[in-house]
Amino acid sequence: PVNLHGRSFLKLLDFTPQEIRFLLKLSASLKQAKYGGYEQQRLKGKNIALIFEKDSTRTRTGFEVAAYDQGAHVTYLGPTGTQIGKKESMKDTARVLGRVYDAIEYRGFGHSMAEELARHAGVPVYNGLTDEFHPTQILADFLTMREYTRKHLSQITFCFLGDAGNNMGNSLMAGAAQIGMDVRLGAPKACWPDQELVDHCRAIAQQTGAKITLTEDPKEAAKGCDYVYTDVWVSMGEPDSVWEERIKLLTPYRVTSEIMAATGNPHAKFLHCLPAFHNRETEIGEKIFQQFGIDCMEVSEEVFESEASVVFDQAENRMHTIKAVLTATIGG
Ligand code: CP
Ligand code: NVA
Repeated sequence: PVNLHGRSFLKLLDFTPQEIRFLLKLSASLKQAKYGGYEQQRLKGKNIALIFEKDSTRTRTGFEVAAYDQGAHVTYLGPTGTQIGKKESMKDTARVLGRVYDAIEYRGFGHSMAEELARHAGVPVYNGLTDEFHPTQILADFLTMREYTRKHLSQITFCFLGDAGNNMGNSLMAGAAQIGMDVRLGAPKACWPDQELVDHCRAIAQQTGAKITLTEDPKEAAKGCDYVYTDVWVSMGEPDSVWEERIKLLTPYRVTSEIMAATGNPHAKFLHCLPAFHNRETEIGEKIFQQFGIDCMEVSEEVFESEASVVFDQAENRMHTIKAVLTATIGG
């Protein structure tokens, strides 16, 4: 039997495949309970701190609503307005918040800071995204895959195209390795994940039957896929100066109708963790499109708005899966 009580959730690699499957099952049943109107509150009287050193829509609201649904209270600690990192170290912050809260969510830059927080807080710490990993997103993605495919997760084939060495590429590769999926990363070598992480994931894959392919050919990556996943080309915390190079490197990896057709699978679905640059309707998107004279970044408007796109299911599933992590780790 799986027992995650008191555990932090920093990266998927800290968990066994059985534990990850348990969280996915729990997510599905919590989602069902909410829709059915029979959700039971297991977090009454709990207080959760939400530290965000970067912006967020889904992760913040996911944690807040999951906590409220379950009877817990949250405090949002944003990029400004606290002592964190300016006047107070992470170690001291951890020891303070650990005295006041039952658990702490942390979105920040280097993953080592999330680990430092977890080491000293004495309460569970949840990674709400670091430069290296975004594990709660993967739970939502896998739940979404499960909802749209009649196959077992281990029978699913998917590709991630674009900046495959970012937090999403890293985390999807790790999750796929653990669940035994066929994952392809389609990216120029400069954007592949660190070799050390690839080796680690390949070692896990040997045990789980997963298949990990790194290729520079986006169509080869897409061939036979049930899902095509992409993410922004420049992540939060990276300097604007990298845009030019990324656009040059990653333009061949855009998810267009041609790529969706290259799956050879008429039922293939499109995934994106969001936010996505699929048109000019955002401040940054408009600026980049204008500056570089392009009209498509990681995904075309056509694919984003197509029937194949299940990105808003993913977004909703952030809340249900975060709720599973909360109840499993601090639930009564
Ligand atoms: N996908 C995701 O983490 O979105 P936010 O940055 O809005 O939290
Ligand atoms: N790679 C993106 C993911 C956002 C959810 C970023 O880190 O900005």
